[in-house]
Amino acid sequence: MGEKSIEVLAPAKINLALAVSAKRADGYHSLETVFQSISLVDRVKVTLKKSRGISCFCGDLSGEKNLAYQAARLFVEQCQVEGLSGGQAGIEIAIEKKIPVQAGLAGGSSDAASVLRALNILFSCPFSYDTLLELAKKCGSDAAFCLKGGTQWGEGTGTDLKDLPPAPEMDILLVKPSRGISTAEAFRIYDEIGEYSALNMDLWVDLLKAQDRKTIAMKLSNSLEKAAFRLLPELIGIKELLLRGGCLGALMSGSGSAVFGIVQNQDKGKEIAELLMAKGISGTWLVKTTNELRLG
Ligand code: C5P
Repeated sequence: MGEKSIEVLAPAKINLALAVSAKRADGYHSLETVFQSISLVDRVKVTLKKSRGISCFCGDLSGEKNLAYQAARLFVEQCQVEGLSGGQAGIEIAIEKKIPVQAGLAGGSSDAASVLRALNILFSCPFSYDTLLELAKKCGSDAAFCLKGGTQWGEGTGTDLKDLPPAPEMDILLVKPSRGISTAEAFRIYDEIGEYSALNMDLWVDLLKAQDRKTIAMKLSNSLEKAAFRLLPELIGIKELLLRGGCLGALMSGSGSAVFGIVQNQDKGKEIAELLMAKGISGTWLVKTTNELRLG
């Protein structure tokens, strides 16, 4: 086989709402969440090589530990199980990283999901969407959503997905402090607090159908915030600044440490980003919600 490449865009996600509903026997937590893709993307180039083996280039995050590498390995193993020619392939992954790590934005999971999509295209679609979804679930709690993208309801550990009405296009100001938060650590602190809760899916369906950014912004909620604020108190100040600056609503994404604000428009977003900059907070991105997964 000659060398073939494809470049795909791997979008980050935010959680418009997240409630932890129980701790499970396996140590994981059941949750309910509203996932939303945003336009902050990593670029993932996947090349089929003549020489065998998998390589993953991603700066400091290169090598076998990268979820994208693990996704490629799972894909190859699945090819072997099903006796497909992809089992003999050499695969090179090169990731241009824009999504910050330990941010609650699913950057690693999105790269992994993108590798699965890219490989399925490069091998002329040997696997159904459901098979790819099973492989994605093995890559971590957020990878299943990242394979689907858009606006989704997530249950279980976040891997049981249901389509929600697509959110309206919203301008989002993202803020990521230099320190990140480990998901495991956020859940550990959460267990000390131990306040379980639930979301109302019907309410979210109605909110999204109504397409009103202001009411969506008013209903943002994340029960992991309290734990994350304990781990990284500077997040409290960031959220306050976003709200005082005029965001329609602000919330930490996932298990943090990124915090996002829904802004009226790009100009307002720039104004608030400048306000943050004046306070010494420089890690900001002005992005949009997005409901399509595009190739590069
Ligand atoms: O799924 P992922 O590898 O991203 O999860 C990292 C860690 O976060 C898990 O090992 C677990 O400690 C915690 N976690 C959890 N409940 C979830 C998702 C993650 O307790 N639903």
